[in-house]
Amino acid sequence: MAEPRISSIDGKLAEEFAVPSHVDEVKEKMAAFARYHAEAGRKVVLITSGGTKVPLESRTVRFLDNFSSGRRGASSAEYFIDSGYAVIFLHRHRSLFPYTRMFLTINMLDALQFRGGEDTSEVVVNQQVLPNIAKVLKRYDEVKDERLLLPIEFSTLSEYLHLLKAAAQALSTLGSKAMFYLAAAVSDFYIPASEMPEHKIQSSDGPLQLSMKMVPKILSPLVKDWAPQAFVISFKLETDSAILIAKARRALDTYRHQAVVANVLDSRRGYVVVVTRDTQAELILTEEDVKNEVEIEERIVSNLTAAHKAFITQQVG
Ligand code: PMT
Repeated sequence: MAEPRISSIDGKLAEEFAVPSHVDEVKEKMAAFARYHAEAGRKVVLITSGGTKVPLESRTVRFLDNFSSGRRGASSAEYFIDSGYAVIFLHRHRSLFPYTRMFLTINMLDALQFRGGEDTSEVVVNQQVLPNIAKVLKRYDEVKDERLLLPIEFSTLSEYLHLLKAAAQALSTLGSKAMFYLAAAVSDFYIPASEMPEHKIQSSDGPLQLSMKMVPKILSPLVKDWAPQAFVISFKLETDSAILIAKARRALDTYRHQAVVANVLDSRRGYVVVVTRDTQAELILTEEDVKNEVEIEERIVSNLTAAHKAFITQQVG
């Protein structure tokens, strides 16, 4: 397999975004995960999920955050696993997580009951407070036993960028059997470390004016240099539906990857459009679907796994 090319963004990443100290260790973990599943004949998807955080001060008190609950990424991870994939889940610290996502709003102490006796005591789960807990726990244990989910955390933009690059390199041995599903909401702006004030910005200095630099579009080296044979899906979030499809098409023209999942903030739970160079598939949940608790991620994953299968066949043939 050819060595990945070095892009100009590699230099920028190293110079302007602090390299997390554990990046090599995580890269080796991801490479071992990829090897293990490749030997088992499994495809691997790298899911990014949650929003990045950009610090405004070196000793950070304030930061700029991109909106994302992480639900899209967490639920998609479950559907990919159900479809036979192994998943690297590169997610924002404390954003929604596969399987536990269903119980996050529940106060754990309300869900447990203490039963104490003279000599013994036990804690039992109240299944009325945690509906489906037995089913979800059973599935979670199976997924853990089969090593199908590798969670990796990030918080800041720098961590995200370096860990995504490490993931791309770790998965490059899988060729077209690797999929990148980039659902994270990544900041477009940042303050370089050299221009960042060390201490907390003082309100006594008056109104704050910020000048931020553009974050390099990481999709470009990912598609061209780091994982050129992989099946790459980006997401496009807009608040104005009138420009959504044009923006998705522009992203495909610019980065030459395989598909864009286009969504509008307010309708993202029930409507998305999967855009490829030649096709445009609207995925919509009906009222009936919503009543039956169908999730749009099930439809997205079904659409993309079929497209990935066709892509692999085409690459091999
Ligand atoms: O988490 P939820 O609450 O469920 O919401 C899901 C979601 C709305 C966050 C998700 O469906 C979604 O749309 N994610 C992408 C949001 C986004 O920030 O889009 P964007 O237009 O900024 O970026 C488009 C693509 O470019 C993304 O795939 C991103 O990974 C990529 N990008 C962005 C910035 C950057 N510097 N480099 C990039 O490669």
